[in-house]
Amino acid sequence: MTKLPGGIAPSQITSREVFMSRRALLAGALAGGAAAALPEARADTPPASSLKPLKYTLDRPYSVSLKPTPYEDITGYNNFYEFGTDKSDPKANAYTLRPHPWSLTLAGEAEITGTYHLDDILKTQPLEERIYRFRCVEAWSMVIPWVGFELGALLRRFKPTSRAKYVEFTTLFDPQQMPGERDSILPWPYVEGLRMDEAMHPLTILVVGLYGEVLPNQDGAPLRLIVPWKYGFKGIKSIVKIAFTEQQPRNTWNIAAPDEYGFYANVNPNVPHPRWSQATERVIGGGWFARQPTLMFNGYQNEVANLYRGMDLHRYF
Ligand code: MTE
Repeated sequence: MTKLPGGIAPSQITSREVFMSRRALLAGALAGGAAAALPEARADTPPASSLKPLKYTLDRPYSVSLKPTPYEDITGYNNFYEFGTDKSDPKANAYTLRPHPWSLTLAGEAEITGTYHLDDILKTQPLEERIYRFRCVEAWSMVIPWVGFELGALLRRFKPTSRAKYVEFTTLFDPQQMPGERDSILPWPYVEGLRMDEAMHPLTILVVGLYGEVLPNQDGAPLRLIVPWKYGFKGIKSIVKIAFTEQQPRNTWNIAAPDEYGFYANVNPNVPHPRWSQATERVIGGGWFARQPTLMFNGYQNEVANLYRGMDLHRYF
């Protein structure tokens, strides 16, 4: 484990105490100790799936004022192929994932790199609630009250170099914890990528919770990406590595079906998927017949359209 950048004083508390006092930590009640080597993760920690309330502030400017999808739908209708391909599989099977303790590696084109306890990162990264629209490429949608923090705030602490043009994310590869990784349905581990300006955009967040509680395993515990103007497959789950790269990363669904899933994956009602229209979406939790028009950039056009000025969005889908 490496010492964290950004003036962070790693704590000597055991992981269990860190976990149990996360609310106090996030409220800023815990002062950091002297700089020291980061504590080793311990095996006797409770699983993060024993849902605990999180401490966070409400971020209204970036939140939509829409009624969130019921918790049961957000946590019972999932895509997480490491645990099966049916929508109900992740909830039934993801108990084998052990999201605590967890380490996160920062790598690649940055002045500071290393492997860190997620707890130590979370201690120094205040959380916010962001109520975002969520649009899957399969043409269904939800409204989800995520709890997390801006990805850019974390990335800046590692001082990316001028060669850092993209950010690549990798999911845990451990077929014992993620039995679906024994099947060759997708190339494992799941990987995703963003252009640097997309990664640094204030709407792009790393998520640790939803509905005010620690993220359930099936939703990508303990740490997942959310980019609300892109299709849901960009929202990689259970992240163990974030790397700054010079070349555009390949992303899992693009490797699996390059004609169907692009790198950008911006929500776009005018660019159909080869096998279905993207003009409308099924509203999960609204009954089987609830459909609504899909919005350009999933409704975040004012915030993000300038990132793609001059680009042919049919070509860069
Ligand atoms: N991340 C990993 N590691 N594995 C996956 O199968 N599925 C993606 C994305 N992240 C997936 C993943 C897809 S296709 C979608 S739509 C969203 O997660 C679903 O997130 P949710 O289950 O929380 O709604």
